[in-house]
Amino acid sequence: FNPPPAVNEPSLSYAPGTTERDALKAELARMKAEQVDIPMTIGGKKITTGDRVAIHPPHEIKHTLGHYHKGGSAHVQQAIDAALAAKPAWEALPWQERAAIFLKAADLISGPYRYKINAATMLGQSKTPHQSEIESVAELADFFRFNVQFMIEMYEDQPLTEPGSGIWNRVEYRPLEGFVFAITPFNFTAIAGNLPGAPALLGNTVVWKPAETQVYAAAVIMEILEEAGLPDGVINMILVDGPVAGDIIFEHQDFAGLHFTGSTKVFQHLWQTIGKNLPKYRTYPRIVGETGGKDFLIAHPSAPAAQVATALVRGAYEYQGQKCSAASRAYLPESLWPAIKTLLVEQVGSIKMGNVEDFSNFMGAVIDERAFDKISGYIAEAKKSTDAEVLIGGGYDKSEGYFIEPTVIVTTNPNYRTMEEEIFGPVLTIFVYQDDAFEATLDLIDRTSPYALTGAVFSCDRGAVDFATHKLRHSAGNFYINDKPTGAVVGQQPFGGARGSGTNDKAGSIINLYRWVSARSIKENF
Ligand code: SER
Repeated sequence: FNPPPAVNEPSLSYAPGTTERDALKAELARMKAEQVDIPMTIGGKKITTGDRVAIHPPHEIKHTLGHYHKGGSAHVQQAIDAALAAKPAWEALPWQERAAIFLKAADLISGPYRYKINAATMLGQSKTPHQSEIESVAELADFFRFNVQFMIEMYEDQPLTEPGSGIWNRVEYRPLEGFVFAITPFNFTAIAGNLPGAPALLGNTVVWKPAETQVYAAAVIMEILEEAGLPDGVINMILVDGPVAGDIIFEHQDFAGLHFTGSTKVFQHLWQTIGKNLPKYRTYPRIVGETGGKDFLIAHPSAPAAQVATALVRGAYEYQGQKCSAASRAYLPESLWPAIKTLLVEQVGSIKMGNVEDFSNFMGAVIDERAFDKISGYIAEAKKSTDAEVLIGGGYDKSEGYFIEPTVIVTTNPNYRTMEEEIFGPVLTIFVYQDDAFEATLDLIDRTSPYALTGAVFSCDRGAVDFATHKLRHSAGNFYINDKPTGAVVGQQPFGGARGSGTNDKAGSIINLYRWVSARSIKENF
């Protein structure tokens, strides 16, 4: 068995005059007229309940895309039972069969489902066509294809056997004993697919709880996996409140692993719950989580101002700053500040925001009212603070959708709230440092936030790059030199952070895959 080598799926441009642009527009129109009715999927069965929750595009809240069926405790129990029932047959399948299903799913994503999954992500999560294409299509297909390649590499990682010794040593990469619980976020459809997908590829069965604000595209992922041939019960999609699921799952003796992306606070709570329940489990559960970030960019005085400005605009405002990797605090030298400020005023000031179905918009809306209230609260407070000045933007309006203007705050206090706390919205805070304080500023970056997800340094001075790379060794799991801190590519920049940002098990890499197996060493004497 020799699967096609994994290569990164190219993104389509959707530029005016392209056929893909017309195809995506047609798909958007079709989906908007459709009124979906999304059931849960448990043991391959479609489960509807009387509790129908309406789905609205965040940028057009008066429109209804359809409904999903919300479940309760009984459905969580059914999903666990279905996962456990499906496990023996799934685990016994030759790995080539499991690989084939995920490779086919990747081809469905990059082929016949390309516009559907893109449009679902645009409408449900308010992504522009480009932001949607790079992840719901390219990154998700990459996850499925590269995971197969990593799985093979892992299986090939075998112990020594001395020739002629009459012994054969080998390692069997068994799936975990029990079921895996995947909790996925709203901000990336690719993550929603990878978190249940990676453990499943390795022979695990999964209970999957997508974010309630991402159900629209999650249902398309489920449809694709089914069409690819995923057997019933391997991935069970439950649409329930987190605590309802947690109360049953974390009490279950066969709970074997958590694959999580979401907030630091929730992750810590789940870890504590798991810790408290340890004696109940058959095995020590694997806990893999990617959580918050307060991602930084520092420019050295040798950096080109234009490059820094572009990185800030893209890093802070693409997808409304709702990437865990988004640039949200910047440290700029006094000598470069006037030039960068001029560029930011010009470029941020000209950002177009609005309905993502208008392909000329660079930004859509933030995900929901709770996010809108939280982000606008930070902005309102900055407007009143003596420590901060709102340099650009600062407006917000939720009458048609949850729109927040791209906002730049400048502060003289490096410990001002918006320099330290994760906002998860289009808000960038800038601290201007004295040119001769580069080293002290690196220390400041390292100390200021509990997170360590992504970060970037800009400099044309090799010594400064080297110094910053070393000094900030533990400040970011993904570190960028002369690039924005967002947009990690599967197979190229394994993604994840440590400290308050997670367990750093690098999504879409062999490191992550090792967490979903429990190896058995076998020694055989001939
Ligand atoms: N992988 C994404 C990025 O690098 C974040 O999850 O932007």
